[in-house]
Amino acid sequence: MSECARAIYPGSFDPVTLGHLDLVRRAARIFDGGLVVAVLRNTTKSPLFSPEERREMFAAALADEGIGGVRVISFEGLLVDVARREGAKIILRGLRAVSDFEFELQMAMMNRRLAPGIETVFLTPGEDVSFISSRLVREIARLGGDVSGLVPRAALARLVERFGPAAAGE
Ligand code: PNS
Repeated sequence: MSECARAIYPGSFDPVTLGHLDLVRRAARIFDGGLVVAVLRNTTKSPLFSPEERREMFAAALADEGIGGVRVISFEGLLVDVARREGAKIILRGLRAVSDFEFELQMAMMNRRLAPGIETVFLTPGEDVSFISSRLVREIARLGGDVSGLVPRAALARLVERFGPAAAGE
């Protein structure tokens, strides 16, 4: 790894989960040039939370956990353009299971075609959080299930605002 490597960690983060935080913690130990979390604004997935809410939840979770040296931005347009603007030569993505691999490989190849100087690096989350996905968190909270233990405090508070105390198991 080159000196002072900076990485960008893009995603929808709708909402941030303990899996995302686990990955950031691991990455912060590796990328000594800093880590930029980049929240996608114009997602086609009709997100539950606005880009600003998603950005705020991630930033609050990092502050609560005392994870420093990580900036949280929101972006639209091509990821590689944001990576260049931020001076990041590495795109960080999490790989939870084989099912993630096909899409991730395709994206990594496409991003390399667009920006040959930028490499995608995959990290695997801890096995205690590798079953968590934002999609399932949204679905469970929407259906009245308990998502505490799956998301950081800041995200849980927003989910309770949206769906009521059942989201926190109350
Ligand atoms: O959390 P997600 O939804 O899996 O993240 C997907 C994300 C944000 C990484 C991807 O949709 C993305 O990079 N979008 C920005 C637009 C772009 O650059 N598209 C070409 C990717 S090959």
